[in-house]
Amino acid sequence: PAAIDPPASREPAPDSAAPIREEGRAKVNLALHVTGRRADGYHELDTLVVFPPFGDLLEVRPGAGLSLSVSGPFAADLGPADDNLVMRAATALQAAFQVQHGAALSLEKRLPVASGIGGGSADAAAALRALSRLWRLDARDPRIAEIAARLGADVPMCLASRPLRASGIGDVLSPVANLPAAGLVLVNPRVAVATPAIFKTLKTRENPPLGDLPGFANTSALTDWLATTRNDLQSPALETSPVIADVLEALEALPGSLLARMSGSGASCFALFADTTMAKAAAGALAAARPDWWICQTEVR
Ligand code: C5P
Repeated sequence: PAAIDPPASREPAPDSAAPIREEGRAKVNLALHVTGRRADGYHELDTLVVFPPFGDLLEVRPGAGLSLSVSGPFAADLGPADDNLVMRAATALQAAFQVQHGAALSLEKRLPVASGIGGGSADAAAALRALSRLWRLDARDPRIAEIAARLGADVPMCLASRPLRASGIGDVLSPVANLPAAGLVLVNPRVAVATPAIFKTLKTRENPPLGDLPGFANTSALTDWLATTRNDLQSPALETSPVIADVLEALEALPGSLLARMSGSGASCFALFADTTMAKAAAGALAAARPDWWICQTEVR
């Protein structure tokens, strides 16, 4: 798989007192076309993905052995720590580089689980980035990209965590430069969706790819182009979870909403706005009307 260098770390080299922090940003599929199906059952995609500055937070400290503690609003929705993709990432990295040290990891789970915005993949990618720093591994070593690809189809893109177009099963990445800024509202109706079930109910598996990305002069050029694209997983997800239709309808009705669509295999949906001020007003209004939904105001940049 093609690799994109992970973002440069924003913190100085670790000293043993301060934890190393990495964000596991939400992954938002602005467009997602399913273009085929491989012999192994995985689907081929063509998708435009952004990583808004909101997500799970991972801290790592030196430790004996590997341990994981979880906190945050969605901690209770995770299974046992041993099964967590974060621990699988840590174990794989330790083995591949024959690291003799351990690490104590703490994850603040701020993204809803099984919700189409890549939470588990983002956490695994954050663990690879954070532990590479703690253990002083070369972030560009191809073994890290290989571990990412083995952990899940979305982990390589989350490792890059920057605007990109992905093909293959989501693992062939090309960076997308100069996307215009936009306000973004993310909504999850607190319904978990199992990704394999959505792929299984897909009726058409051979859809055309996205086509060439034009240069986007401004936000409305981006939303005009997005309106010519789709998320092919949206209709099978609507069949499984009809509440997604309510979410999309609510997002479309918000003042200033330019485009509303589902991300990944759902159930999270997003709306794009001209700027963050518009998105903030819209998110506030929606939160008052739907206190039962998870609503997050953020941005594309
Ligand atoms: O790779 P990951 O474990 O995240 O994928 C979860 C499931 O989603 C796969 O087992 C497969 O059923 C489905 N999937 C797919 N095609 C993709 C990505 C995921 O069919 N490109």
